[in-house]
Amino acid sequence: MKALVLAGGKGTRLRPLTHTSAKQLVPVANKPVLFYGLEALRDAGITSVGIVVGDTGAEVREAVGDGSRFGLEVTYIPQEAPLGLAHCVLIAGDFLGEDPFVLYLGDNFLVGGIADLVESFGGAGHDAQILLTKVAEPQFYGVAELGPGGEILALEEKPEHPRSDLAIVGVYTFSPAIHEAVRAITPSARGELEITDAIKWLIDHGYRVHSHFVSGYWKDTGRLQDILECNRIVLEAIEPDNRGTVDTLSEISGNVVVAPGAFVENSVIRGPAVIGTGTRISDSYIGPYTSIGESCLIEDAEVEYAIVLRDSTIKGISRLTYSLIGRNVEVTRAEGVPNAHQLMVGDHSRVQVKA
Ligand code: G1P
Repeated sequence: MKALVLAGGKGTRLRPLTHTSAKQLVPVANKPVLFYGLEALRDAGITSVGIVVGDTGAEVREAVGDGSRFGLEVTYIPQEAPLGLAHCVLIAGDFLGEDPFVLYLGDNFLVGGIADLVESFGGAGHDAQILLTKVAEPQFYGVAELGPGGEILALEEKPEHPRSDLAIVGVYTFSPAIHEAVRAITPSARGELEITDAIKWLIDHGYRVHSHFVSGYWKDTGRLQDILECNRIVLEAIEPDNRGTVDTLSEISGNVVVAPGAFVENSVIRGPAVIGTGTRISDSYIGPYTSIGESCLIEDAEVEYAIVLRDSTIKGISRLTYSLIGRNVEVTRAEGVPNAHQLMVGDHSRVQVKA
């Protein structure tokens, strides 16, 4: 069994971070989302992984390398434009050959791994397996309608009027029959070759498509609220581990990871939280569900329920919450008069100041 991991796309809902960085590399508890997926594939016994990359390919290659540190052998497959998930399968034809494979969307986050899914596919002789889960806003996903016996009656990609609340999770298993399907379908209204249409094609042509319910937690991390929630879920399970320096004036409670080379002085950290390598927390409060990346400076500030990426500074701010801060960002006080907010933010940024 091989795996095809999709790490291209534009990540429009996470702009401006995704103007310069891959959405699959946004960190959750200081580890890129994509890495959780690669580890899940390895834990399911897969070693041969193709990664489809787009404009941010160089950054993905730099982060993942040849895959050896995950115990994987990675082959990169460049996609010239985000032409759809089924298009990715189409261009990966040579890599996949006649092997069955897992298709894994690199921004999907699944707690509990995929070993069960891979195992059940191996023995059952299906041509495709999809994972389903109930969601509050099915119109943003592929949606399945099931019959009384659990059989798939209909599949629709991002329907305006969903027929059920069952979203298709971005982890699928396929037999080589999918190659015929991706060659047969035509682009959707949004101009993409949809994997949902390819699966529908399999059903319409008498192939066996099976659906499973996801037992654990699942999120597509494409939006701010989703990535913050994933961060919360992962942090809830961390064990405390202090390898940095915490002075005697500081108070740490709950599960907190302080990475080697991090320095905490005269501060309160209420976990769960992670503090990255080389980061300095001074005269500050770090609240629950916060991940501070490496080489940051948090000084005279309060930060909670937030993700801060590497090399950023937050100084003299009370209180920053429900926030995603990119790399090399400075958030500081505007001193003097007039008492006004001073901003220099990138395209597609979102700033919400205290009312
Ligand atoms: C894709 C699929 C959709 C699925 C979703 C899960 O959508 O097309 O069917 O429900 O992933 O993450 P995208 O996120 O590419 O718009």
